[in-house]
Amino acid sequence: MQKFKEEVGQVVAQLVSLEPAEVLNLLEVPPDPTYGDLAFPCFTLAKSMKKPPPLIAKELSEKLSGQKGQFWEKAIPVGPYLNFHIDPKAYSREVMRQVWEQGNEYGKTNLGQGANVPVDYSSPNIAKPFGVGHIRSTVIGHALYLIYNALGYNSIGINHLGDWGTQFGKLIVAFKRWGEEQLLEDKPVDYLYQLYVEFHRKAEEDPSLDDEARSWFKKLENGDEEAVDYWNRFRQLSLETYESIYGLLGIEFEYYHGESHYNQMLDRVIDIVQEKGIAKESEGALMVDLEPYNLPSVMLRKQDGATLYITRDLAAAIYRHETFAFARSLYVVGAEQTLHFQQLFKVLELLGFEWASKCVHVPFGMIRFKEGRMSTRAGKIILLEEVLQRSIEMARAIIEEKNPDLEDKENAAQAVGLGAVRFGDLSNDRVKNIEFDWEKVLDFSGETAAYIQYSHARICSILRKAGGDFLQWDDRVVSLLVEDEEICLIKSLALLPEKIITSAESYRPSVLARYLIDVARDFNRLYHNCPVLSSEAELKHGRLLLISATRQVLANGLALLGIIAPEKM
Ligand code: ARG
Repeated sequence: MQKFKEEVGQVVAQLVSLEPAEVLNLLEVPPDPTYGDLAFPCFTLAKSMKKPPPLIAKELSEKLSGQKGQFWEKAIPVGPYLNFHIDPKAYSREVMRQVWEQGNEYGKTNLGQGANVPVDYSSPNIAKPFGVGHIRSTVIGHALYLIYNALGYNSIGINHLGDWGTQFGKLIVAFKRWGEEQLLEDKPVDYLYQLYVEFHRKAEEDPSLDDEARSWFKKLENGDEEAVDYWNRFRQLSLETYESIYGLLGIEFEYYHGESHYNQMLDRVIDIVQEKGIAKESEGALMVDLEPYNLPSVMLRKQDGATLYITRDLAAAIYRHETFAFARSLYVVGAEQTLHFQQLFKVLELLGFEWASKCVHVPFGMIRFKEGRMSTRAGKIILLEEVLQRSIEMARAIIEEKNPDLEDKENAAQAVGLGAVRFGDLSNDRVKNIEFDWEKVLDFSGETAAYIQYSHARICSILRKAGGDFLQWDDRVVSLLVEDEEICLIKSLALLPEKIITSAESYRPSVLARYLIDVARDFNRLYHNCPVLSSEAELKHGRLLLISATRQVLANGLALLGIIAPEKM
């Protein structure tokens, strides 16, 4: 809790030759709360004071004996540390009042002061399925988008669609030869993928198809009307499908700037690179030598004049900087593209863009679906839409069984089903490969969204039973919360703001996700050991305020992971 920290900073600074801010930087949280709530390590003072750290800790504690502040109540030396204990009552009051007063805003700060943070995420490829890799990018990217917004940054969601490249030549050939209007209209994303696969199969027998495809792509690049028409339709229809999936997930992008968006900027990018003299021509191709930096060299233009994925990313990075003057620019893309981003950022650096260091690749591992209950039409490929629908279906069945009388089952099934997919991903450290197991992600008592959502709904139900009158702030009743379970829960609630910051700084929504599990656990411990509704009036009032604050923290936290917390389930 910030106020407690600041107070300790002041107190220590008055006794030693350090500024309060310096003390703040040194403060640590002791591993075991029984040792205290904040520890000041005395190592740094040992030199200037010419004394061993344990002695310094002891002397400082003597100077403070008999005193207490607004939040700290005693300072006790433990080895080389001076450990401050918080006054539980003052602390509880402060934390709970903050949650109470800030409501939906609790946890948010204005660290970013409106600075722009483009988040490049999801970014599927047209004609290829919206597959599992894109699920992770979508879920992690959206969480980071929300988390950065909560910290006062202006997040800008950019979908860097794979909407350009030789595959469009192939699609045009395939569609002209074997395409069926109706199928394209009905299921554009699946159908384009089918055509793409079919094209490859047929091209193996008849290589002239490849030449034909190349020539169509050339036409497309030259702005041929027929080619552009096809491309536009394929793109537009695919986009509509994507948008319906995003809609289900509550995701909106500020920009669908796909790769094609940068086509007109590529000449300029090549010029910049040549002016800077960092590229060399090699048999008509344009290369940037990155060997001195232990990276493979990159090609920015092929012999035939065609540009590449990285050329468009170069244009995109420059465009984003010119348009948004970003504080950071995030790319939420699988770890298999790590090299690509190292090369991209290195080229930006060589071009002399000092902002290159603000570009961040946020990689993640693979996701594998445990065989069994999920079978797919497409064989090996699992499509996001299917995963989501499947999850909702399973959630519906569980809810039907657990709570057959629930009024709005559909709403709950959606929240739980979608939450399971998101949380199943987000609760893992993103760099790890994950195995997605339906049994696990929908387990109401496991480390799942459902567990948190269920705790949230349970609180809502207690509050409903208590009736609204109890929900009024009262300092006095909050002071009655002194049981271990209560203090422990309050201390957890206090952590939301810093957990959000850590999630953002480390680009790890998993920090927030794991924290919410802890809060739900602490709540369940309280719920089992400390009666709420049957307690005597004032204690009951205090506990109702506590669980109401808990509800707020769970809802605020889940919202930043893109997960809805229903009031009933
Ligand atoms: N469309 C690419 C893929 O699916 C991801 C694009 C990521 N963003 C970027 N700026 N390169 O592999």
